[in-house]
Amino acid sequence: MMYVLMIRLSNRMEKSRWQQIGICLFNTENLYILLYLRNTTKTSLYHMKTAFISDVHGNLEAFTSVCESIKQEHVDRIVFLGDIVGYGANPNECIELLQSLTNYAAAGNHDWAAAGRQSAHAFNAFAAEALEWTRATLTRENMLFLRSLPLSLDMREFLGVHASPSMPDRWRYVFNALDAEAVFGTFSHRLCFIAHTHCPVIFEKLVDAPVVPEFPAMAAFHPCGRYIINCGSVGQPRDGDPRASYGVYDTSDNRYHLVRVEYDLLSVQKKIRRAGLPDYLAYRLSVGR
Ligand SMILES: [Fe+2]
Repeated sequence: MMYVLMIRLSNRMEKSRWQQIGICLFNTENLYILLYLRNTTKTSLYHMKTAFISDVHGNLEAFTSVCESIKQEHVDRIVFLGDIVGYGANPNECIELLQSLTNYAAAGNHDWAAAGRQSAHAFNAFAAEALEWTRATLTRENMLFLRSLPLSLDMREFLGVHASPSMPDRWRYVFNALDAEAVFGTFSHRLCFIAHTHCPVIFEKLVDAPVVPEFPAMAAFHPCGRYIINCGSVGQPRDGDPRASYGVYDTSDNRYHLVRVEYDLLSVQKKIRRAGLPDYLAYRLSVGR
């Protein structure tokens, strides 16, 4: 007896952008005959919708709430731009959740300091105290994971880096238009996604025009423009809005938007205090500073 089998292969994401359809004929002796195989992609394979997250800082409640929100965005991939640990009481749990989400992960200064790849001489007293606690709490496997993180992600559509793209291992901040103007010449990508300041902003560079900082919830990138984009912080926002923050960029329409997410702040503050971490680290979460 002959059977007909139809196969459908697609990418793993919830919003499939491509698929292959095949039809096979086979009999009971397992003789397979491939009759038809076709890629049914209608839009380019390279159109990608990406969620950018960073600066989780061991805040598991904010991270899980952001993960729930990202599910509603139907992204093709998640890119992490550094600082999974530091300040918060759940560094191991956040690392393990990150590992389950993506392989696209760059290092932040807190990650490298916790892993012993750099000194903490530039850290303030609160950050230094949290760093010691984090080092004592991390498992060996998670410490090794932090050591393995690269300084930048050189993707086809963008550069991803935690701090300034000019010298990523110096961990310089890009706070304002002057900072941004100075670094646009140090990378060649049209888009550069950064983190580190914990404050969302977009720096736009058009030909023969000064760099302009913008703070929109949604943006359509000019085809001739270059951009440095900061998506804020998941676990310790510092722009006066205590809600977790992340960004979504879709290459199919060249649009970007920022998402803010409420999370269980009180639980996080209790954990920080129970762990013996500085009280200020719990307090600042409620004011977004
Ligand atoms: Fe950070």
